[in-house]
Amino acid sequence: MSSNILFSFLGNEDITEKLAIKLNASVGQVLFRKFPDGESYVRILSDIKDKNVVLICTLHQPNDKFISLYFFSKTAKSLGVKTVCLVAPYLSYMRQDKIFHPGEGVTSKYFGELVSEFFDGIVTIDPHLHRVRSLSSVYSIPNMVLHAAQEISKWIELNVSDPVLIGPDEESKNWVSLVAKNANAPFIILNKTRYGDRKVKIELPDLEMYNDKTPVLVDDIISTARTMIEVVENLKDTKMKAAIVIGIHAIFAGNAYQKLIDSGVGSIVTCNTIPHPTNEINISDELGKGIQQLLQKLN
Ligand code: R5P
Repeated sequence: MSSNILFSFLGNEDITEKLAIKLNASVGQVLFRKFPDGESYVRILSDIKDKNVVLICTLHQPNDKFISLYFFSKTAKSLGVKTVCLVAPYLSYMRQDKIFHPGEGVTSKYFGELVSEFFDGIVTIDPHLHRVRSLSSVYSIPNMVLHAAQEISKWIELNVSDPVLIGPDEESKNWVSLVAKNANAPFIILNKTRYGDRKVKIELPDLEMYNDKTPVLVDDIISTARTMIEVVENLKDTKMKAAIVIGIHAIFAGNAYQKLIDSGVGSIVTCNTIPHPTNEINISDELGKGIQQLLQKLN
């Protein structure tokens, strides 16, 4: 019997099933629920003694989940596991990676320190690493950082004729340039100024030479969607076709998804790091490889 066992946090069942097949591992039984007063309850029902336990929990809206992750890990350790790791296809709190205003803290680091205290390893897809280059500067536990770029390039090659890739800001350059290279497409990177959580300004350069191409916007996170909406609206002043928007992590805070649809976008596509109706790009192959490598490192 395999010594690796996967567990799904609520809402992560689909990707957990895909990973279990790839890793030839079983999916364990666990009960996550709330007491009537709102306190969290965790009960692990499968036998996990001496096993490598992997909890799959993507971390959008992380505050609600955090205490359950802690209880799960501590409970698993009390039951004699070999290792207990977290797979967070989307890793939260990575964007506050510097002090932007006096009185703030570098909360990406604080969150990383907390998680590193009770998990033995972590696997994630394209965490927001911009000013901080390596996840190891934020997490002190063994980690695997995987990338969606290859799968995104494949999707573009299969579905878009004559694309030009557009990165909305300097921070997107890393993945946009890689996606463009793999998809044999040209790319441009725009300049974005952020004035607040929901206010950004992006100006387009002269795009006349791309008039006959399909603009494909690529970014890591779509949260309020203001970044994407600003580019889509500016593109309407050009002669280019309606834009295709690709996000790795489909957070879509509040009514952001509807607002992006209403902006006149051609189509919206995301990776399945966060469950959403736009999940057309499956990154479970990458994730599976990463989990395997992490478990090899730990054992
Ligand atoms: C920021 O640098 C990120 O790469 C994304 O551009 C940003 O998080 C998108 O946020 P929103 O959808 O709220 O504009």
